[in-house]
Amino acid sequence: MFNSSLVAYPKVRLRRLRKNQAIRDLMQEIHLSKKDLICPIFVQEGISKPVKIKSMGEIKRFPLKNIDNEIESIIDLGIKAIILFGIPSNKDDNATSAFDDDGIVQRTVRHIRKNYGEKLAIITDACMCQYTSTGHCGIVKNKTVDNDSSLQILGKIATSHARAGADMIAPSAMMDGQVHAIRENLDSNGFTDTGIIGYSAKLASPLYGPFRDAANSYPEFGDRKSYQMPFTNRNEALKEVETDINEGADIVMVKPAIPYLDLIYQIREMTTTPVCAYSVSGEYAMIKAAALEGWLSEDNVMTELLVSIKRAGADMIITYHAKRMAQLLDE
Ligand code: PBG
Ligand code: ZN
Repeated sequence: MFNSSLVAYPKVRLRRLRKNQAIRDLMQEIHLSKKDLICPIFVQEGISKPVKIKSMGEIKRFPLKNIDNEIESIIDLGIKAIILFGIPSNKDDNATSAFDDDGIVQRTVRHIRKNYGEKLAIITDACMCQYTSTGHCGIVKNKTVDNDSSLQILGKIATSHARAGADMIAPSAMMDGQVHAIRENLDSNGFTDTGIIGYSAKLASPLYGPFRDAANSYPEFGDRKSYQMPFTNRNEALKEVETDINEGADIVMVKPAIPYLDLIYQIREMTTTPVCAYSVSGEYAMIKAAALEGWLSEDNVMTELLVSIKRAGADMIITYHAKRMAQLLDE
């Protein structure tokens, strides 16, 4: 492809194409669009006004009754998708409030669907850690997280979200077979049009810390390393993705994003299935903290990192920067 003896190096001047902003604009290869952004929203039962999350900058937990301003500002900014996380008042051993048709996520989805129609794609996170008394992402039996009983619950959660009107369900528990179990449950209840975004390559990462503050979902004992995958492994991530695709995932996900651009790139090369990247709470918090100190320019760093995630091959990005980024893309 490339024969170095034929290249007249002295004549190559890459700076010609960087001469001024108009030329640089013409040459731009990777374009970040508002349509790529998915905005996370935390909705909490039992609070009476929005509550700031200490480790997460501008991100708040909202009571359902105060959700409208947030939804309207997201729509006005031109963002097309949200992912909802619920924080219930009641936790128990079987995550009952996670699949209650009157649960916090289900009520929120119905409210948004009723009032905003199809202006936003509504994605729901399907997991148990906010809902179990143990704070684990599955049902605990004999001090271990039991895979197959957790699958049944995940199926019920997904169907209750679909019944409320969710467009896509994103299972984040990292139980084996979760995409299959959810597909079966959705289909057998008539929700054949509800999509699944697999949190396929979800790594066991300390970068989820601020989220656990936000969602009140720290595991009560142990850690998540028996279900989330080790960050030392590459083939295992590809295998997780392959498995989710075989089980019927419509979209696959890599999470976190920035430390795993190599995986995003490799997965993009490997499959035609759309790839979503989740730039997590810790990635956001690091930028926010440095910006507060005046050590980094928040807007510039955020833009560079989000573009890098697209350049690696992600088709869409879940990011806590979504609103600010959408604002900047308008300017
Ligand atoms: C729930 C869930 C987590 C995140 C998304 N869904 C936390 C976890 O697995 O501990 C993390 C998101 C973030 O850090 O922004 N399973
Ligand atoms: Zn979880």
